[in-house]
Amino acid sequence: MSFSTLSISILAVVALQLQFVHIVLSLNQTNSYLQHICIKSEGTYNPDSSYENQIKRHLDYSSTNYLDYGFIHGVGGEGPNTFYIKAQCRGDASLSMCRSCLSTAFSGILRKCRNNKGRIIWYDNCFLYLSSIYTYQKIDSKHYLYLQNAKDVSGNTKLFNKNKRDLLYKLKGTATRKEQKPYTRDYMYATGEESLGKMKLYAMMQCTQDLSVKNCSVCLDSIIAKLPSCCNGKQGGRVLNPSCTFRYELYPFVKPSQ
Ligand SMILES: *[C@@H]1O[C@H](CO)[C@@H](O)[C@H](O)[C@H]1NC(C)=O
Ligand SMILES: *[C@@H]1O[C@H](CO)[C@@H](O)[C@H](O)[C@H]1NC(C)=O
Repeated sequence: MSFSTLSISILAVVALQLQFVHIVLSLNQTNSYLQHICIKSEGTYNPDSSYENQIKRHLDYSSTNYLDYGFIHGVGGEGPNTFYIKAQCRGDASLSMCRSCLSTAFSGILRKCRNNKGRIIWYDNCFLYLSSIYTYQKIDSKHYLYLQNAKDVSGNTKLFNKNKRDLLYKLKGTATRKEQKPYTRDYMYATGEESLGKMKLYAMMQCTQDLSVKNCSVCLDSIIAKLPSCCNGKQGGRVLNPSCTFRYELYPFVKPSQ
């Protein structure tokens, strides 16, 4: 082997490793802002009030003390200023990533929905829902947002759509299986992948941990039914809802489940 061939093959190995590191890092570190909803019908609060401070204190306290399994439900304030906090991190988020996501979410929602009592914000790694209405264990059938990868799939779109629906239903089976343990980070959370010829399809879905397994299933059916409107023929897509969510892409975007 000549010297120059050797150095080329070493370079190739280094390049491959760098690519791998890049994928791992991007899996680990991304926490993009996704979307938010300001719920006008719940009214507003007085900007000089202690309302925000109370929510902040509540959130700080809960995220330090109760975030081990990635879910928070809290109640605070009183009378017309009673607030409910619901927050959940993606099933693969570490405790520290979950905490930092929620703190980003709190400052983010204050900027996006100035003074609204009802507001929801989504990031890659968590979502935060502040409301004056008790939403614990309820399926939210009002708030749906769609996000899609701008790229279209090439080839047989019909077949791709079918494969994607099949994978999502398979994950639904995993997310709603009876034998899983509550109070774990990946409760009612599922990830999976499926080879489609040369491509690979990756998907994730999750319900909020306050739902019953039965209601998780109802919620997942309702978002899978949105597939045609959310992401027909797109390489990637998500439906965001405050009770459940899914995402699929042609590249890995979550830590594979053990
Ligand atoms: C992800 O980040 C955490 C904290 O920064 C680090 O401890 C961990 O090793 C990282 N994991 C990967 C797969 O890079
Ligand atoms: C299931 O969802 C419905 C609708 O949100 C709710 O009224 C009901 O209490 C939930 N059931 C359980 C067992 O949590």
